[in-house]
Amino acid sequence: MSQSPYKEVEVTGDKSSDVVWHNASVSLEDRSKKNGHKPAVLWFTGLSGSGKSTVANAVDRMLYELNCKTYVLDGDNVRHGLNGDLSFSDADRVENIRRIGEVSKLFVDAGLIVTTAFISPFQQDRDMVRQQLEPGQFIEVFIDTPIEVCEQRDPKGLYKKARSGEIKNFTGIDSTYEAPNEAEIQVLTADKGIEACAMQVIEYLITNNYISKD
Ligand code: ADX
Repeated sequence: MSQSPYKEVEVTGDKSSDVVWHNASVSLEDRSKKNGHKPAVLWFTGLSGSGKSTVANAVDRMLYELNCKTYVLDGDNVRHGLNGDLSFSDADRVENIRRIGEVSKLFVDAGLIVTTAFISPFQQDRDMVRQQLEPGQFIEVFIDTPIEVCEQRDPKGLYKKARSGEIKNFTGIDSTYEAPNEAEIQVLTADKGIEACAMQVIEYLITNNYISKD
């Protein structure tokens, strides 16, 4: 067992028990000072077609214009590469989020504001990622779009396929989605445009001193 410097937790991965942590010479504090902002994960969660990727990319563009160091991790993209071996069974969805949690942690350690856009349907998994990070580094963003609206939008034609039985285990149809009870940010996308949704996230970051206005 080894000790993780992120938190006072033991790393129990039994296949890596003889691995010893090597401390970095550039601290996260140094990186944050140079970047001019705090690092964080903006963890978007919501149904397929809710607007996660669209709003995440709009937020990313705004942060980029504010000279922040950022990156977007998107479900559809990550499932082409890193998580290309995972299905949509409950177990594989858990593993999907575990891996993204680890990747997000690395990005945070690199000083970035990382935005993740995964359905991440289970509260327990989102909580697990939150616990892996320092207090304040995990910001849960609920992209709260009613399933009727998502189904009407159906940008990839997947709801249609799920209704006809062509796709199994589709979130919201025959696979569970647990909406967050205490997300830091709740974005009601049916009420406003993409820019306004993204601005809501930016304003949270300003109000809570992650970034500054100028
Ligand atoms: S998660 O549940 O494991 O977090 P993730 O965000 O990575 O899901 O991937 C969701 C995307 O995969 C959806 O936006 C959709 O395009 C596609 N997809 C394909 N099959 C399914 C399915 N059965 N349920 C949900 N999304 C699916």
